[in-house]
Amino acid sequence: MDYLQIKRVNSLNGNIKISGAKNASLPLIAMTILATNSVSIKNLPHVADINTLLKLLSNLGAKCNRGSDTTTVDTTSLTQTKATYDIVKTMRASILVLGPILARFGHCEVSLPGGCAIGQRPIDLHLKALEQMGAKIDIKAGYIEATAPNGLKGCDIIFDKITVTGTANIVMAAALANGNTIITNAAREPEVVQLCEILNASGVKIDGIGTAVLTIHGTSGKLINIDEFSVIPDRIEAGTYLCAGAITRAELTLTNVNASHLGAVLSKLEEMGSTFTITDDTITIHPSDLIKPVKIVTQEYPAFPTDMQAQFLALATQANGTSIIEEKLFENRFMHVSELQRMGADISLNGHVATVNGGTKLSGTDVMATDLRASSALVLAGLVADGTTDVHRIYHLDRGYDSLEVKLQNVGADIQRLKE
Ligand code: UD1
Repeated sequence: MDYLQIKRVNSLNGNIKISGAKNASLPLIAMTILATNSVSIKNLPHVADINTLLKLLSNLGAKCNRGSDTTTVDTTSLTQTKATYDIVKTMRASILVLGPILARFGHCEVSLPGGCAIGQRPIDLHLKALEQMGAKIDIKAGYIEATAPNGLKGCDIIFDKITVTGTANIVMAAALANGNTIITNAAREPEVVQLCEILNASGVKIDGIGTAVLTIHGTSGKLINIDEFSVIPDRIEAGTYLCAGAITRAELTLTNVNASHLGAVLSKLEEMGSTFTITDDTITIHPSDLIKPVKIVTQEYPAFPTDMQAQFLALATQANGTSIIEEKLFENRFMHVSELQRMGADISLNGHVATVNGGTKLSGTDVMATDLRASSALVLAGLVADGTTDVHRIYHLDRGYDSLEVKLQNVGADIQRLKE
C-alpha cells in the first residue's frame, strides 16, 4: 500500500494546473449510456473513481478507451444491465448507472452501495423518484432490481432533500422518458449544470438549468447523439490547493480553474485574510501572514461545500483565534479531527459542530486517511507540521485527487509517495 511522506519546507511558489472535476465526470460518463454514438470526453481526471466507472461500463459490454487527454466511451455494444457488488462496493457513485440503464433497457440491477465512512448515505430519494416515474423497484439479496418494460413516464418529482447524484440520476432517467419530468428541489451544483447543458445540447430539452426546478422533456426512448465535450475544472481540487497556499502562506497560481464555481470558498478564504487575482481561467492566492478565524456551515451549492470542510478545518488549526465549523450534510464527516488532534491541533467536537482553537504548532507523525477529503486535510496539515508526516491509506486520496504529490512537488513541497 502507498503512503505519502511530507516534510515541512519554508515556502511554496508556482503554478498548479487543475484537473477535470471527478464529480462532473462520473455522471457524464454514465450519461454516455443514453448515446447512439461513441462519445469523446476531454479533461477526465486521472483518478481511481473514473477508472472504476469505466471498468463498470466495460464489464457491461461498453468499449472504453482511456487516453491521456481524450477518452472515448462507446456504449452501443452495452448488453448487460447488472452492476455487481465487487465494483459498487468500491464506489458509491456507481448508482449513477441506474437511471440511464433503466431508461434505455427497461431493466437494471445495481448492488446496494451500503454504508460509508462519512455517514449512512441512503439512496431512497433516487428509488422513490424512479418509482414515481413508473419503475417497479425490488430490493433482494443486496441488489436493487428496477424494471420499466414500457419505459419510464414523465412526472412531477419533489425531492425531500437536495441530492446531487439523485438529481443527476433522475435527469438521465427523465431524458429518455415519455413526457416531461419536473424536478423540484433539484441540486444546482456546477457538476449537475454541466450534465444538463450537455443533454440539452444533445437534443434533450431541459428548462431551468442551474435552478432548483428542472423540466426535462423526455425523448420517448429515443437515444441521443452526444458531441465531444470537455469536463469542467474540479472546484474541490482547486479549493484544496487554495487552502495549501493559505496554510503555507505561499502565493500559488491555479490554472484551468473556474472561479465562478468557487464563490463560497473564495469568500471564506478572504474572511481568513487571503486576497486573490482572478482571470477567466486562473486564480492567484495572495495569502496573509495572519490567518483569521472563521465560521463555516456546510450546505448545498452555492453555499459552502461539505467537500471543503476537512481542508478548512486543517487551515483553521493555524488561525489566530477560534473557528466554528458546522457540518450539515453528513453525520459522520469529522473522522479527520482525531488525526489532526494527534498532530497537536486543539479541536473539540460537539455533535456536528467542531470548535477549533487555532494557533497550535502541529507536529508530524503517522496519520491515517479515512475518506477522500479527510486525506487532503492531513496533507495540508503535514505541509506546516514540524518534522515528518506520514499519511497512510491514501487509496482514499487516489479516488479523487489527480497526481496530488506531483502537483505539490512542482510548487516546491517536500512530499513523496512511498510503499509501506
Ligand atoms: C455528492 C458528491 C459528494 C458530496 C455530496 C454533497 C458526487 C459523486 N459526490 O454525493 O462529493 O459530498 O454530493 O455535496 O457527486 N440523501 C438521502 N437520500 C438519498 C440521497 C441523499 O437522504 O436518496 C442525503 C444524504 O445522506 C446527504 C444529503 O442527502 O445527507 C446529500 O447527499 P447527496 O447530495 O445525495 O450526496 P451524493 O450525491 O452521494
